[in-house]
Amino acid sequence: MEKLRVGIIFGGMSSEKEVSLNSGRNVYDNMDREHFEPVPLFMEPSGRLWILPWQLISQNTTTDISERLATEAERIAYEDLKKRIDVAFIALHGKYGDDGCIQGLLELMNIPYTGPGILASAIGMDKDIQQKILRAEGLGVPRSTVVEEGQWRRDSDGVRKRLIGEFGLPLVTKPVREGSSIGVTVVRRLEDLDAAMASALEWDRTVLVEEFLDGTEFSSIVLEDEGEPRPLSLTEIHPQSEFFTYDDKYMPGRCRKFTPPKTIPKDVAEKIKVDVVRAFKALGFRCYGRIDGFVLKDGRVLITDPNSSSGMAPSSFFFEQAAEQGMLPGMIVSKLIEIAMKIHKEKKGPL
Ligand SMILES: Nc1ncnc2c1ncn2[C@@H]1O[C@H](COP(=O)(O)OP(=O)(O)O)[C@@H](O)[C@H]1O
Ligand SMILES: [Mg+2]
Repeated sequence: MEKLRVGIIFGGMSSEKEVSLNSGRNVYDNMDREHFEPVPLFMEPSGRLWILPWQLISQNTTTDISERLATEAERIAYEDLKKRIDVAFIALHGKYGDDGCIQGLLELMNIPYTGPGILASAIGMDKDIQQKILRAEGLGVPRSTVVEEGQWRRDSDGVRKRLIGEFGLPLVTKPVREGSSIGVTVVRRLEDLDAAMASALEWDRTVLVEEFLDGTEFSSIVLEDEGEPRPLSLTEIHPQSEFFTYDDKYMPGRCRKFTPPKTIPKDVAEKIKVDVVRAFKALGFRCYGRIDGFVLKDGRVLITDPNSSSGMAPSSFFFEQAAEQGMLPGMIVSKLIEIAMKIHKEKKGPL
């Protein structure tokens, strides 16, 4: 049988390109060569695609790769993708990567891809829309509000008063569409609010402001299995910083993670498993997703961050939870490709 050519797309245009490089490299390393032929596709910050030779995949940073593209890689136009790959493994994260943009492009070219479709990816990126949907579904979400950039510039005094009145301190500010904790601040003193708003507004024109949650953070990968979403396992997170920051997420040994959970009681863990599946379905996710949230001191479960993609580095939640279920990284990679092919076959119009 012909091997399926799998284009692994990584790098990209977002703030999470380095995270994506780690994901892409690990997917490439773990892909089953007996059934698949991996085609490493690097997306430059400008959005152009290149087919990389293996030496370039092992580079440390996207800048190291970018510098060598012209001499060592092969440029490929979007419209030629179909000639070189049979399916796309999307290892991009963040804007233009897991927000519906690349998904739309692949739909136009009739190329199957991993992860959910255009709408669910876009929803998966927008923390305000997600909360509205989850709230309507009856799931627990934090109390929140949005502040538009123009509103903040015109009337910061009024906005400050409204936020403090509504949430008190601490409160949490974040760009409505980002990831990896970029632009997120826990504001403990009123005098830090302006800097926190500025930090979030660097990344988006809308800031999501939330009540501060005091509790235990969790993360749950949900995988479609015979068309039914099922949680892989559950991880409890004990950040070493004030919250689960970029460094906690990606610097080796910075954060303590427990799979299965250490302090979350069994009945609460069961409730989380039910809720993450409900969230997955309500948001229209397909293939896989990662649903994150908090267990509060009073036992309530809140969903704070549903993601339509997830980091795929060796130490990621994905592979940690898979390992707990006895699945090797290569098995997960194969499974995601298999699901992507099945979903594509059943499509009636764009996903
Ligand atoms: N309402 C909140 N209360 C307390 N901590 C929060 C809250 N929202 C986010 N955090 C902390 O900030 C981190 C990043 O926020 P999150 O909403 O998950 O955004 P991202 O998409 O960047 O991961 C979380 O993992 C958590 O540690
Ligand atoms: Mg998060």
